[in-house]
Amino acid sequence: MQIEILGNVKGIKKQNDVLMINTAEAVVRVWVYSPSVIRVNISRNFDESDASFAVIRGPLSKFNEAETEKEIIIKTTELQLHISKSPLRFNFFTADGRALSEDDQRFGVNWQGTRVTSYRKLYPDERFIGLGEKTGNLNRRGSSYVNWNTDAALHGVDADPLYKTFPFFVGLHNGLTYGLFFDNTHKSYFDFGASTDATMSWFGADAGDMNYYFFGAQGIAKIIEEYTWLTGRMEMPPLWSLGYQQCRWSYMSADEVVDIAENFRREKIPADVIYCDIDYMDDYKIFTWNKEPFPEPAAMINKLKSMGFHLVTIVDPGIKVEEGYKEYDEGVAKNYFATYPDGENYTAEVWPGRCHFPDFFRDDVREWWGKAFIALTEPGVDGFWNDMNEPAAWGQNIPWLVKFGEKYMPEVRNAYGMQMARATYEGTKKILGNKRPFILTRAAYSGTQRYSAVWTGDNSASDAHLLLGQRLVNSLGITGMSLIGVDIGGFAGNPTPELMVRWNSLGVYTPMFRNHAMEGTKYREPWCWGKENEAIIKKDIEQRYRLLPYIYSSFYQSCQTGMPVSRTLAIDYTGDENVYDVKYQNQFLFGDSILITPVESTKFTEDVYLPEGEWYRLSSGKKFKGGQAISAEAPLTDLPVFIKAGAIIPMQKVIQSTAEEGDGILEVNIWHGKEANTFVYYEDDGLTYDHQNGAYYKRQITFNPAKKIIGFSTVEGSFTSKYNQIKLVLHGFETIVQGKVRTLSANGKILRISKNPDHVVFANSSEQISIIY
Ligand code: GLC
Repeated sequence: MQIEILGNVKGIKKQNDVLMINTAEAVVRVWVYSPSVIRVNISRNFDESDASFAVIRGPLSKFNEAETEKEIIIKTTELQLHISKSPLRFNFFTADGRALSEDDQRFGVNWQGTRVTSYRKLYPDERFIGLGEKTGNLNRRGSSYVNWNTDAALHGVDADPLYKTFPFFVGLHNGLTYGLFFDNTHKSYFDFGASTDATMSWFGADAGDMNYYFFGAQGIAKIIEEYTWLTGRMEMPPLWSLGYQQCRWSYMSADEVVDIAENFRREKIPADVIYCDIDYMDDYKIFTWNKEPFPEPAAMINKLKSMGFHLVTIVDPGIKVEEGYKEYDEGVAKNYFATYPDGENYTAEVWPGRCHFPDFFRDDVREWWGKAFIALTEPGVDGFWNDMNEPAAWGQNIPWLVKFGEKYMPEVRNAYGMQMARATYEGTKKILGNKRPFILTRAAYSGTQRYSAVWTGDNSASDAHLLLGQRLVNSLGITGMSLIGVDIGGFAGNPTPELMVRWNSLGVYTPMFRNHAMEGTKYREPWCWGKENEAIIKKDIEQRYRLLPYIYSSFYQSCQTGMPVSRTLAIDYTGDENVYDVKYQNQFLFGDSILITPVESTKFTEDVYLPEGEWYRLSSGKKFKGGQAISAEAPLTDLPVFIKAGAIIPMQKVIQSTAEEGDGILEVNIWHGKEANTFVYYEDDGLTYDHQNGAYYKRQITFNPAKKIIGFSTVEGSFTSKYNQIKLVLHGFETIVQGKVRTLSANGKILRISKNPDHVVFANSSEQISIIY
């Protein structure tokens, strides 16, 4: 196989928003999407269509370029792209000329057969983070990865590839940051200096264009903001999906489902969601119910609803080959399935036996699929779990000549799950009217955050998987996903009681808190672990419910800026070497101010790295200086959770589900610190899209230690908060206030003050409120 190099510039043409460069081998197009986002597309099969599953933005209509004898230079206010003409190379610099990312000057971009690769300069101090659901270390330097969505059943902790493809990474060197999104759905490869004697990094794909978006913003948070500007952000999830979720493969009958739900209420363990895995269906036929064990789905769901539970049901893409089965008959009649090149429907086996696979790349197929959900929504299902959508087929080797519309499997496989999730989201959203559906998918491609939550697939009941799961969640957060879960307790195998308790305590701080287990394993519900452990599990789940106002506001932030709820410390402490240390790399911030250290179930003290600043241990209130590692006690009853000084964390009283009204008191906790802080508090009805028409409640809560003022801004939006009182709880203020709040006023009126030294309670007026302490 010959190497076909890109060659030199032969001609340059500017056409409206695009700069076109011709070489003997290829057509290069360059667009500017924003002052810090530049797109480069290098193609040997120039095609005007230019479709993307991920990107939802278009380029700017104008930009400036200058040409010298040797170079073409594109300059924006934030970025410079220097394109050298001979050989043709692409080198990115900051506005003030510092190198961000450059082609390997020897090899640049080239082809071998259909394979296209970009070879890039590797800086001596360069680190890489990202690529979403990938095993390995936070710092991906020295590792290589493949993107090929795979049913990685019972995978090990080093397995690659897993279920999802996010060809987006952030590079860090010389105190600078950049991002690169390789928008190509073919099987793709990333090598961060793993197999090159550290002389270069490279990425490429089996076919398609060298098509990438370069992000030049300084700061990882800003790069995430831009990447999610380009590929979209999540919608506000239904509030109930942030409560505790109980799943199992499978609860085998309606009676069992109801019984489990009742037991949560009996034991007073809060929960919002229960799942039906594949056995609710008749012979695993999607959109059917197995009438014997589930005789009256509507009655079952009504019962669940009366207890404040939502039901989520699984759907797989494989449609059973069986005449008389509605979806099969319709799909065959309308040619909705993937085919062989001769038009014959492609058949492979999954749970139902022989199946056909809907072509979710087609509008009409997605619409048809979406409408079929009526079989689930009518009895009252409002959450839809999309599984096996890599797509999975027994044997794991769908032939390359299988066609989805005009495209063959290798080109679109990595986007199949995303398009299934899209069809499910669009369809159920239409059926449910103004109600938000909850969608969960296993396979995904960049941009999936617009449609669905994700979970990390079939992990195992081990400490190594607990730690890996956290890294996967933190890494997925860099690539635009925020509502993410792992199977708490481990899907395969049986956790020890210690592992179950420990993992559940970490679940409190996992964006989606779902306990799930494989067929044949022991039951996992909170009461299966003895009274003492049940009490710990219960207390931890209660903590999740206490934190929901903070968590919901943190999701609002994800919707606004793409900032994930679970954040690797690399986002906020990019320049701190210690956060990449394998010893501390699993630590993360949950929202703005809660620092969590995952701990194995066999360890009862743990080394915790506290980044710069000051930190309070949540359980003891003890204060620590940052910029050091400490040894923290970590009994099973007390995961090391630290609160950043200055933190503003709204909480509420424990409720049994998000359907419960609560006591109407929003408990705003502030931990004293030297730096001022602002928290954007957000609330809406948690269920509908009314917030898009102004029915939300938003205000800034500020803490200003220099002026000794705590402020609540005027409320924005037309929604009335469900909390009619605010209880302000001050932590670590003792030495300053000595138990006294001096003035508490809303627009000059003095508010009623309770006598308790560490807190005050006042009416939640929508006017500006200032507390001078
Ligand atoms: C797959 C899913 C798992 C599910 C099982 C049965 O293995 O990853 O979560 O329980 O299928 O549907």
